[in-house]
Amino acid sequence: MSTTATPVTPELEAYLRPLFWPEDALLQELARDIAARGPQIQVSAEEGRLLALLVTLSGAGRVLEVGTLFGYSGVWMARALAPGGHLDTIEFTPLHASAAGEWFERAGLGSRVSVHEGAALEVLPRLSGPYDLATTRCGWSGPVG
Ligand SMILES: C[S@@+](CC[C@H](N)C(=O)[O-])C[C@H]1O[C@@H](n2cnc3c(N)ncnc32)[C@H](O)[C@@H]1O
Repeated sequence: MSTTATPVTPELEAYLRPLFWPEDALLQELARDIAARGPQIQVSAEEGRLLALLVTLSGAGRVLEVGTLFGYSGVWMARALAPGGHLDTIEFTPLHASAAGEWFERAGLGSRVSVHEGAALEVLPRLSGPYDLATTRCGWSGPVG
């Protein structure tokens, strides 16, 4: 055990990236779609891997996400759901919600994910818990309601 921290330099990160948090072809294409027609505010591949790890380690079956964007983080998490599990994800920007629905279908996750279009505070009362895990990443410059 060491008492000093190892700094994560860009070089170390570039070395680790393909080893520990690789994006598959679908996630890479999804990220390119966001770059082409949406705001690039999705989680990083590292964060996606961490979210998937949390879902796996907790054995979560029911997961709630506020802020779907195009479904990048959702694909990471939905793939890690316990058997029979389900992701409910809320998104209030119509373009983002419809793009996410398309990407979940393309990922073969359509039956494991529900995209709820609307503002979180309006949608949440219509959903019934309990959830095993909830996540949000809504910090951006758009409206919040
Ligand atoms: C940072 S992005 C989410 C990124 C996504 N979790 C990912 O990593 O792929 C935030 C998203 O939350 C949505 N959003 C912001 N405030 C919201 C609210 N109050 N209700 C629903 N969606 C909201 C935005 O439209 C945007 O698509």
